[in-house]
Amino acid sequence: MQLMSQASAEKLRGGFYTPEAIAAFMLRWGINGSTNLDILEPSCGDGVFLEQIQRLGSKFASVTAVEMDEVEADKAELISIPNKTIIRGDFHTYCNGTKKRFDLVIGNPPYW
Ligand SMILES: C[S@@+](CC[C@H](N)C(=O)[O-])C[C@H]1O[C@@H](n2cnc3c(N)ncnc32)[C@H](O)[C@@H]1O
Repeated sequence: MQLMSQASAEKLRGGFYTPEAIAAFMLRWGINGSTNLDILEPSCGDGVFLEQIQRLGSKFASVTAVEMDEVEADKAELISIPNKTIIRGDFHTYCNGTKKRFDLVIGNPPYW
């Protein structure tokens, strides 16, 4: 057992990212041929799901990605896909404050 005071900052924020092939598989499954989904990635890290959306050439209405770590949010910001919004901050705060609704919520959340 490791005490929280001994754990790395990366471990504490759950900074372990999804392998590209798994993200691509999940996206193909979740999008399932749709072209007009509003997609939410609730804790996007460096943006592997956004990268795979770009690589697969997926069509969608919008992608909103939330990330509380500024450095990782900067990396996600660099991924060029249309109608993308990066929300810098806490996912729970975003959820409680938005009226936007989503068709697909996809990503690997933090586990502690
Ligand atoms: C397990 S990683 C997964 C990243 C990405 N979703 C993926 O699948 O590769 C979890 C991410 O959630 C972020 N995170 C943790 N708590 C958060 C919160 N309350 N709101 C937003 N992001 C959070 C961490 O900084 C980390 O980048």
